[in-house]
Amino acid sequence: KKPDPAAVISSPPPPFKFTQDELKKIAAYKAVEYVESGMVLGLGTGSTAKHAIDRIGELLREGKLADIIGIPTSTQTHEQASSLGIPLSDLDTHPVLDLAIDGADEVDPDMNLVKGRGGSLLREKMIEGCCRKFVVIVDESKLVDYVGGSGLAVPVEVVPFCWKFTAQKLKSLFEEGGCVAKLRVLPENGEPFVTDNGNFIIDLYFKRDIGDLRAAGDAMLRLAGVVEHGMFIDMATTLIVAGSFGLTFQLH
Ligand code: 5RP
Repeated sequence: KKPDPAAVISSPPPPFKFTQDELKKIAAYKAVEYVESGMVLGLGTGSTAKHAIDRIGELLREGKLADIIGIPTSTQTHEQASSLGIPLSDLDTHPVLDLAIDGADEVDPDMNLVKGRGGSLLREKMIEGCCRKFVVIVDESKLVDYVGGSGLAVPVEVVPFCWKFTAQKLKSLFEEGGCVAKLRVLPENGEPFVTDNGNFIIDLYFKRDIGDLRAAGDAMLRLAGVVEHGMFIDMATTLIVAGSFGLTFQLH
């Protein structure tokens, strides 16, 4: 019988083929082992982080954890965590966090991340930048050779005012990288996707490795219409990857 993925937390390759969601759950449950009573926790956003938050809620209910304070990285996570009874606060009250757990869209060999395909990159970056430990949880599909290497987007949060102008400026920063810049829209009606902060997202697609990530990020931030980009450079302290090979850990 195939076991509950949550129960599979050892390193040898599991003798079962897990679905992508089961792998996310395995990584998430492993990350929650870092959580201790009394901690102030950054709660990530997305389908992987959701498993971690469910697990934290379960441990609180069972009395195996106590006095946790969660700082949610999105309204979606706020709703999930409060429905589980996790006490919540914010960065104004708790400017230093013990630990954050979150997923990622891409992880490069130096543990740099792309985040924000779920649209929450700004709050994620604000909160995860204040943690003593930032544990990133992914399934193996998120590992890439370089940022943008999955062929999927590197998201950039921009103010709605003259977003086309900002998108054009972003594109021209990376002309040599063959960059395409697209406004993120809702699939159901083609209207712009609006972030929790009332902004839009421009998704950048690169044909090649853009090289110096810090220089690229700084160039984006110098554009007045850009609020934040989704490259999380040198922020992750621990990476947990679940895959067909088992579980791996990487410490920064
Ligand atoms: C949201 C994010 C998510 O962490 C990222 O999109 C990964 O999501 P998932 O765990 O659903 O694959 O950055 O803004």
